[in-house]
Amino acid sequence: MDCETTIWMVVLFLFSSAMYCVFGEPQVPCLFIFGDSLSDSGNNNDLATDAKANYKPYGIDFPDGPTGRFTNGLTSIDIISDLLGFDHYIPPYANTNGTDIAQGVNYASGAAGIRNETGTHMGQDISMGLQLEHHRDIVSQIAKKLGSEKVQQHLNKCLYYVNIGSNDYLNNYFLPQHYPTNGKYNADQYAVALIQEHLTYLKALYELGARKFSLFGLSLIGCIPHGKNDSLCVEEHNRAALLFNNKLKSVVDRFNKEFPDAKFIFINTAIITENSLKQDMKILTCCKVGSNGQCIPNEEPCQNRNLHPFFDEFHPSEVVNKVLANMAYNAPVPAFAHPMDISHLVKL
Ligand SMILES: *[C@@H]1O[C@H](CO)[C@@H](O)[C@H](O)[C@H]1NC(C)=O
Ligand SMILES: *[C@@H]1O[C@H](CO)[C@@H](O)[C@H](O)[C@H]1NC(C)=O
Ligand SMILES: *[C@@H]1O[C@H](CO)[C@@H](O)[C@H](O)[C@H]1NC(C)=O
Repeated sequence: MDCETTIWMVVLFLFSSAMYCVFGEPQVPCLFIFGDSLSDSGNNNDLATDAKANYKPYGIDFPDGPTGRFTNGLTSIDIISDLLGFDHYIPPYANTNGTDIAQGVNYASGAAGIRNETGTHMGQDISMGLQLEHHRDIVSQIAKKLGSEKVQQHLNKCLYYVNIGSNDYLNNYFLPQHYPTNGKYNADQYAVALIQEHLTYLKALYELGARKFSLFGLSLIGCIPHGKNDSLCVEEHNRAALLFNNKLKSVVDRFNKEFPDAKFIFINTAIITENSLKQDMKILTCCKVGSNGQCIPNEEPCQNRNLHPFFDEFHPSEVVNKVLANMAYNAPVPAFAHPMDISHLVKL
């Protein structure tokens, strides 16, 4: 083989590998999702709860229509999985059939929180602790396929997306008629207790092989339209969310020292989405809602979904999810993602 042919073959080889990277393989072999209704893609559909969204007009802009996603189109993690190069959305735990789990599973559940009792005034949900039990089950299924040595290598490379805590406020602490936490803790003590419990779950996730953690802070939960008379935000609720966020960010710094073979990042959802949510608009919400703040089944939603930051009274529209996902993946300023964004985390 002459030199020129060899060079051309090398060039062709490099070119085809580059193509393969871009179009063939996602940037991480797997993605596991822990969270609440911001990430749920169908886990609540068969639970006895009012917190479900598997009916129209939810999903009006999603290719398959209503799936259980609490928005008009894609959730933030759907968009992030696109950015990571996955050619499918990660299946909800409730629908996995065992053949589709190696690339990840979505455990998120509407109304769920870090605390077990959170959201239960609406019925059943899958708390963070139970989501972890479901993950334990999936890990053992994957181990059966890959063998116990390969499974750890595989799980180490995955991205773990954890976006939970809003319901511990909105569907627990700030509902004193249903939950005792408000009388028991002030806002700072509550954030400490929540983070303390969250830590044990994150450590358990580490023990199960997780090494790349993307931890999302809370959004400005005082700015959701539910329970408001005007466009002003409820500052007490925002302050509580920011207390939680600051403590979560400190955990990220602490764990990056404590677990040098892992990497934790904090996504500052509150700052990223502030301008999208804090709009002085009379009509923030797109769909017609019932007293529970969720869309009324089969009612026509607004026409121009991109002009309404919220789809129902709790959940952002796809347009806001896109902002959050893009900024979390590729943060233009350090304040959005600490100490790095998702695009850098997955390259480690
Ligand atoms: C399992 O689910 C995958 C995708 O969700 C599907 O392609 C496959 O046919 C299913 N397998 C069985 C045995 O149902
Ligand atoms: C919460 O639920 C999980 C999973 O069922 C359980 O392991 C844990 O002990 C519970 N935590 C508390 C504080 O009850
Ligand atoms: C809304 O307005 C009513 C009547 O003016 C008032 O009693 C209530 O406290 C207000 N709610 C909020 C959340 O500001």
